[in-house]
Amino acid sequence: MQDVFTPTSLLVTGGAGFIGSNFINHFMAGNPDCRVINLDLLTYAGNLKNLTAVEGNANYRFVKGDICDADLVARLLAEEKVDAVAHFAAESHVDRSITGPDIFVRTNVLGTQTLLEASRQHAEQLADFRFLQVSTDEVYGSLGPEGYFTEETPLAPNSPYSASKAGADLLVRAYFETFGLPTLNTRCSNNYGPYHFPEKLIPLMIHNILKKRSLPVYGDGLNVRDWLHVKDHSAAIERVLKQGKPGEIFNVGGNNEWKNIDIVKLVCDLMDERLGRAAGESRELITFVKDRKGHDRRYAIDASKLKRELSWEPSYTFERGIAETIDWYLANQGWVEEVVSGAYREYYEMQYGATA
Ligand code: NAD
Ligand code: DAU
Repeated sequence: MQDVFTPTSLLVTGGAGFIGSNFINHFMAGNPDCRVINLDLLTYAGNLKNLTAVEGNANYRFVKGDICDADLVARLLAEEKVDAVAHFAAESHVDRSITGPDIFVRTNVLGTQTLLEASRQHAEQLADFRFLQVSTDEVYGSLGPEGYFTEETPLAPNSPYSASKAGADLLVRAYFETFGLPTLNTRCSNNYGPYHFPEKLIPLMIHNILKKRSLPVYGDGLNVRDWLHVKDHSAAIERVLKQGKPGEIFNVGGNNEWKNIDIVKLVCDLMDERLGRAAGESRELITFVKDRKGHDRRYAIDASKLKRELSWEPSYTFERGIAETIDWYLANQGWVEEVVSGAYREYYEMQYGATA
């Protein structure tokens, strides 16, 4: 195992999004002496309400800005004496990448290259540095009914989103191989948990069930995703940042495969219990709709390297995680109403022909 690297000043990009904000809340609770600078453009997906727990912390600084702004990034790295970058910022929704791929290339590819180049120049003056690229299992493409993605699986992205993430991952590799920048690359399966934007499957279903709206299931509903609680993902990223050997890739996943239709039915049933509705009532809202273009059939992650080399294990059972997630959404309807009332409303109306 690599000697433990202890960051003293961490630049987090995209820290107002779903996973980035969960990561900051997790990391700052366990690393009170580390400074954390959150650089986020606050697109439709970013929300500072996700970060109220750290707002008053003297070691926390929020900067509204674009990862494609090379001058801003260079200035922050120098000014804050940053010795580690955890790069979450991205356009993250596959459906949006199908209707508008350009912004995915700009943010995910060009934004990553901008951060890498600024980090390369900045790190030349430092004894030690880490750049951690938060990536996705989608870069590996799609699986048939058997098998798992390992770190050796060839990249075969199918959507503009996953292609842009694969492009970014290859730039990360290039900066390690060519310049010796100490990079790390994590590739995680589908996350769920608090602050998940309600355009993604699980929070969209919770929101629509509550409003008694139809529950759009793409295609035959038999596509498979491998779900991991966002807090387990956050812990994995911290472990890789501190103990991963530079130049390495680590898959992250919880061995928790679900067919989409089964997860939608489960969410319906758990919601019915909580809302005092008759058993089976919400399942009536399930509507099979036109399939997503290029819809990957199955994702399943082999995370044995992370377990073996860095002793990481997920702590959530899915039973507990999904129940807590539903309870969180029910207790935080103000947050949901706020995020669906902004720029998202237009997108929702275009997708579903109803008001968010
Ligand atoms: P998200 O869409 O919820 O958040 C993205 C954040 O990035 C937002 O706060 C947004 O404002 C910010 N952002 C976008 N463009 C920016 C720019 N140009 N400059 C600065 N900030 C910008 O995404 P998420 O689901 O939290 O995903 C975070 C990362 O994790 C992404 O890189 C994604 O590819 C990866 N990932 C996500 C999942 C998942 O299940 N959601 C799984 C594996 C990997
Ligand atoms: O695997 C990791 C990836 O997981 C991340 O890299 C992405 O950023 C993240 O968005 C997620 O991508 P998916 O496309 O798997 O997630 P999404 O929630 O959009 O969809 C999950 C599955 O549910 C997928 O098979 C499509 C289906 N689906 C989705 C929506 C929004 C539906 O059937 N109906 C829907 O309304």
